Amino acid sequence: MSGRMLLPVLVCLALVAGFLLWGNSRAWTSWERAVIEKSDSVMYVCVMPEDSVFLRRPSADLGPRELRSKELKTLLDKMRRTLTDPSQDGVGIAAPQLGINRRIILVMRYDKPGQPIEPYLNIRVDSLLGTPVPGPEGCLSLPPYRGMVRRAPRVQISYLRLDGTPVTEQVEGYSAVIFQHECDHLDGILYIDRADTVYVNENWAAERKGFDYSRPEWW
Ligand code: NI
Repeated sequence: MSGRMLLPVLVCLALVAGFLLWGNSRAWTSWERAVIEKSDSVMYVCVMPEDSVFLRRPSADLGPRELRSKELKTLLDKMRRTLTDPSQDGVGIAAPQLGINRRIILVMRYDKPGQPIEPYLNIRVDSLLGTPVPGPEGCLSLPPYRGMVRRAPRVQISYLRLDGTPVTEQVEGYSAVIFQHECDHLDGILYIDRADTVYVNENWAAERKGFDYSRPEWW
């Protein structure tokens, strides 16, 4: 091989290596960066039907670079503050509800001591186990409604931890219901699609009287 050929060959090898390392990941889009950076610590929560463009779209996985990014840390911090804020006070939240179509959810683990709120990345429900049981559900994106939904009492889920470790586990009880509800969000599915009945929750309606549903100016 002549010396003149060496440089183009090295450039090609670098491009191939770069593609193998990063080719499968989709970098944060400029919209996603804007939402992460410009949102207040309590983020705007998408509601139906105005924000169906986010709530009805399937979400993408995070790539290796996004998993290590400061944007993800900021997003998870703001998601947690939003979920626990008295104005929302939920038991789980999914990134598409905040305008970010990525497979990221937070779930309050009722089945663990202290009921910690934990993040789950690139999560999927592998299997629904047991006979479905009806129970009441609500959604921060569908105020002030509630619905009766039949859900599996036990699920097997696969996801990545914050450090990128892949995990497969089985969860049961109310936590299993939350995982099914939040993972549905990642596929553009809302509980009203599965509900036997949907009704107005009068308490929630009273609580939300005068609530500001307007989007941030930059949205
Ligand atoms: Ni929801």
